[in-house]
Amino acid sequence: MTIPPAEPYRIKVVEPIRWTTREERVRLLAEAGWNLFRLRAEDVTIDLLTDSGTGAMSDRQWAALMVGDEAYAGSRSFYRLRETVEDLFGFPHLLPTHQGRGAEHILCTVLVRPGQHVIGNMHFDTTRAHIEHRGGIADDLAVEAIHDPTARLPFKGDLDVVRAEALIGDVGREQVAFLHMTVTCNSGGGQPVSLANLRAVRQLADRYGLPFFLDACRIAENAFFIKEREPGYAERSVASIIREICDLADGCTFSGKKDALVNIGGFLAVRDPALYDQAAPWGVLFEGFPTYGGLAGRDLEAMAQGLREVVDEHYLAWRIGQVRWLGEQMLDRGIPIVELIGGHAVFLDALRFLPHLPRGQYPGQALACALYEDGGVRGVEIGAVMAGRDPLTKQERFPRLELVRLAIPRRVYTQSHMAVVADTATATFRRRETIRGLRIVHEPPTLRHFMARFEPLLS
Ligand code: F0G
Repeated sequence: MTIPPAEPYRIKVVEPIRWTTREERVRLLAEAGWNLFRLRAEDVTIDLLTDSGTGAMSDRQWAALMVGDEAYAGSRSFYRLRETVEDLFGFPHLLPTHQGRGAEHILCTVLVRPGQHVIGNMHFDTTRAHIEHRGGIADDLAVEAIHDPTARLPFKGDLDVVRAEALIGDVGREQVAFLHMTVTCNSGGGQPVSLANLRAVRQLADRYGLPFFLDACRIAENAFFIKEREPGYAERSVASIIREICDLADGCTFSGKKDALVNIGGFLAVRDPALYDQAAPWGVLFEGFPTYGGLAGRDLEAMAQGLREVVDEHYLAWRIGQVRWLGEQMLDRGIPIVELIGGHAVFLDALRFLPHLPRGQYPGQALACALYEDGGVRGVEIGAVMAGRDPLTKQERFPRLELVRLAIPRRVYTQSHMAVVADTATATFRRRETIRGLRIVHEPPTLRHFMARFEPLLS
């Protein structure tokens, strides 16, 4: 597939960004307690905290806002979104939600009973939290290679079907609520899942009579990787690959803030009308009447339009190419990252970047702060700070990977911004031995990474 030679869009509206000095950033870091979530966004020059809800809408999406139908019940915009989702995904029953986690909340409420397992490749945090909130157990059973940042394999998001089947055998089919595959696998480095694996997951679901859902928020990016890497798909359209993925599943949870190219919105889409009937009353309770689901009619319109735009293969080739270009710059300069480069982000490997820092000094957090100090670039730690403490023993959990994610918002930054990010990472890498570890000085009891405060250690 050819990657366009430049951004496949031109800029119609601009938002100024602020260049700060190192002195300012050192002060701002101290004020924020070395926690980048506590910065004001306007003090960030290039914001790679997340690709969620941070994309730029197209002129057609902005135009679609004007034709949003704000009726409480039966809004025209709902029907337009429902048709679009059915066209693209093939799921006829739709419950809009305020964002992805709203859909997870409804699905888990309907399907998860206390003690039941939900088996997936690697659940996103909010999915895990919703499963656990229902008393369930979230099992991450991706293939082993996902834990090895140096394993250069095409589909590290695949489920280890053998281990999944063994777990079903151990706990019994009744103790499994459903299978849930996240495409692409965000928590594992934005790694894609192959269609061969998804077919095997479907067969596993059928052998045990289990429902199988997708977390489809980056499904277009996953389909692009299938086209690029999986034998037999090079000539297929991304739209037809998306449909083939969905044909294997019973429905999906979806955060529109990623591949629907909107700033807010999501949905639960299902094949089975009986499941829809069970889910809809919970939708009313948690989100809003089933034809608006906590969104304005205009948001539904923008999401429908975004879903039509995301399958444009020039857009996708540029999008994946931009992330890949940034990752390749890092590799060329010897900076350790997770390979292969994923769909929405470049993940720096903090353990190899800062080998002099022990895990208890939070190398991921220290690295994220250093990148901000060196270039005003904001990423996010995905490591021990985010993993928090074991709820029972209160001991710190040290996940196998300690990463800093640089997530690229869709259609927002240009190639020259990416060059600044690469140069910043290079400057940080050159002075890596001077980077000090951190200790926590204030730790909230849950989800500590959002509000904790840190202090650099003296040596
Ligand atoms: N599933 C995945 C794979 C996600 O990455 C996210 C959000 C969600 C579900 C939840 O969707 O935010 O709309 O409620 N990921 C964001 C991130 C927050 O930064 O990766 P949401």
